[in-house]
Amino acid sequence: MAMRRIIVLGVLTVSLGFFGCDQAISPMPPGVTEAVAVIHPTTGYTATGTVTLKQESGMLRITVAITGLSPGQHGFHVHEKGDCSGGDGKAAGGHFNPYGTDHGAPTSEVRHVGDLGNITADANGNASVVITDKMATLNDGPANVLGRAFIVHAGADDFVSQPSGAAGSRVGCGVIGQR
Ligand code: CU
Ligand code: ZN
Repeated sequence: MAMRRIIVLGVLTVSLGFFGCDQAISPMPPGVTEAVAVIHPTTGYTATGTVTLKQESGMLRITVAITGLSPGQHGFHVHEKGDCSGGDGKAAGGHFNPYGTDHGAPTSEVRHVGDLGNITADANGNASVVITDKMATLNDGPANVLGRAFIVHAGADDFVSQPSGAAGSRVGCGVIGQR
């Protein structure tokens, strides 16, 4: 009798454990409102910093703090894949473009979801910028940027050249994760 009770308890414990794990590995939990990306330089560059994201009602607030840039404008986008491996940023793929549209400026009606425009570094190479965007989001749906990557470019995004604004080399990369 005692043995039988122990076996039943054991089976119950294993079942609970199994279902507990199953829940833990389910896709992105709903209601994520804050995320962060740590920007690391690609080979030969020094771009370093953080980008924090906060979903507010109807817009995403993106706070950029990056150092080690050349002074001036740098294209700044969400790229499709959350992969900064390989040393050149190319594993992150193209601009995040879930609707299959042309590249544009953040203010353009037609743009990629990932088109956040340019960030400007001061004479010391520091960029401290707050961007608010109505397309990129942490809300559920096709425009959700969680798990994708920010790329900082060597040059400015001209907002016209296809498919990516001719912003040049990828100097920094950071994967966007839940905070
Ligand atoms: Cu880019
Ligand atoms: Zn684009």
